[in-house]
Amino acid sequence: MYANPPLVELVDIWKNFGAVQALRGVSLNVRPGETHALVGDNGAGKTVLMKILAGVYQPDSGTIAVDGSVRHFSSPRESRQHGIEMIYQDFALAENLDVRSNIFLGREVRRKTIGKLLRILDRPYMDKEACRVLASLDVELDPRLKVSHLSGGQRQVVAIGRALAFNARLVIMDEPTANLAVGKVKKLFELTRRLHDLGIAVIVVSHRIDETLCVADRLTVLRQGQVIGRFRSGQLSEARISHLISSGLSDLGG
Ligand SMILES: Nc1ncnc2c1ncn2[C@@H]1O[C@H](COP(=O)(O)OP(=O)(O)OP(=O)(O)O)[C@@H](O)[C@H]1O
Ligand SMILES: [Mg+2]
Repeated sequence: MYANPPLVELVDIWKNFGAVQALRGVSLNVRPGETHALVGDNGAGKTVLMKILAGVYQPDSGTIAVDGSVRHFSSPRESRQHGIEMIYQDFALAENLDVRSNIFLGREVRRKTIGKLLRILDRPYMDKEACRVLASLDVELDPRLKVSHLSGGQRQVVAIGRALAFNARLVIMDEPTANLAVGKVKKLFELTRRLHDLGIAVIVVSHRIDETLCVADRLTVLRQGQVIGRFRSGQLSEARISHLISSGLSDLGG
């Protein structure tokens, strides 16, 4: 059906934690630039699956392919090298640092000073890049503000900016609306559309289907570690997908 391989493809992923079977043969693919919703009840295995894609956990079995080539991610760093960035529920930002420092946290850009071997932080470059990234997201945020002074929505912008500064091709957002006020959810989904326009694929993890249905091109439903439905946007009503998530009945023709 498609000429090109998916951006990422997870095939038959299994993961146990002791006696807990978190994932039981999950397959999922994401196309370049696609917004994909991963939905399911608490404990369905959504976060574990995404952490496997982000290199935080390794699967017991199954494969991950990027651009059609099988890859093994033994750390988040390796996953990032393939353009995969995960934004965690708590955003993992450093409170005491400003926006620009957070955008480059752990990956600071340094330059050689003239006549010396010492490599100092390249602040002008990082300032310029921070502004470019924030502008590409169409948000106004002073890069010199301390993160401890920011709202939940602004923190999310910083976390997304972090991903963009490193040329992410796929941004994973785990429960991005969990800590947001209602009005801010709309803003977040505008950001998601912006990423879509920039050609960046997004996986939105959520147990709120009402929210994800309006932004996602496709939707995968997990229940107790297994995929129980895959849908294109508009294929099913919110009520029917909700029913599927809570009942686990595969009677919906998906
Ligand atoms: N590090 C871990 N050690 C042991 N069990 C774990 C670990 N991480 C996840 N689990 C278990 O794996 C299962 C899937 O968890 P996961 O966090 O992926 O669920 P989820 O779908 O993200 O749920 P939620 O919507 O509540 O975030 C759960 O039973 C959970 O308790
Ligand atoms: Mg989770």
